[in-house]
Amino acid sequence: MIDLHCHILCNMDDGPDCMEETVAMAMRAVDDGIHVIVATPHTLNGVYENPFDRVVRAVRQTQEILNQNKIPLKLAPGGENHFCTGLSEKILNGHGCFVNGNGRYALVEFPFHTLPVGYREALFALSMQNVVPIIVHPERSIPFQQDLELLAELVAMGCLVQLTAMSVTGEFGKRTMRCAHELLKQNLAHVIASDAHSSENRAPVLSAAMEAVADILKSNVLAKALFSDNPRRIMEGRDIAPLARITSDVRRMSFSRKIKTFLGE
Ligand SMILES: [Fe+2]
Repeated sequence: MIDLHCHILCNMDDGPDCMEETVAMAMRAVDDGIHVIVATPHTLNGVYENPFDRVVRAVRQTQEILNQNKIPLKLAPGGENHFCTGLSEKILNGHGCFVNGNGRYALVEFPFHTLPVGYREALFALSMQNVVPIIVHPERSIPFQQDLELLAELVAMGCLVQLTAMSVTGEFGKRTMRCAHELLKQNLAHVIASDAHSSENRAPVLSAAMEAVADILKSNVLAKALFSDNPRRIMEGRDIAPLARITSDVRRMSFSRKIKTFLGE
């Protein structure tokens, strides 16, 4: 499995505060069957600023430590871009972080309680420049929980969706779990990642969620796409695997209607 969203680097954000804890997270991930982690510290959120070159340096140093400890885990650089004023310009001008630095896919985090003014336009501006925003953990966001069509609009525009493994398994509460399961059933989820911050409470563990997803979707193949195939393609900057089922009404809309929807016309 590949974990596309994980706060494993130490002293970068609210993840681990020492290398020992980073190593403990890495060992937990390997035990769970994860062999690649994209290190995604918070950035552009007004508290943490982690330019991509800083992440690259930290990944290099951490990878050396993992290699010395003979831990078979490959790290790649990335970042969790918080929605902010001028997000699209910041990302397009190199001030944000792309997954694996590939210039194509960027994780985007929204506040949990509101959707910021102009969020559609900012995401649309990115997609017009061939950048694919990956909306992280929308199942934990109240506006999306209340209206899944808000998220379906973004998916129809070309955004991808990453759910958090602990949401799927119920550790963030019933409401969040129900939302995650509904997104899976409506084919509005493309990647599942740990969003881990520690080796204990929020650990890099995906296997339990993968079992749950296989059960929900009644398909081991689709579960593998969400935990392995899609993350690999995203890291490589390729398109994700064609999705097997299309169920959302918004996804059936004609392209011109979709554009009008995004522009609020
Ligand atoms: Fe995160």
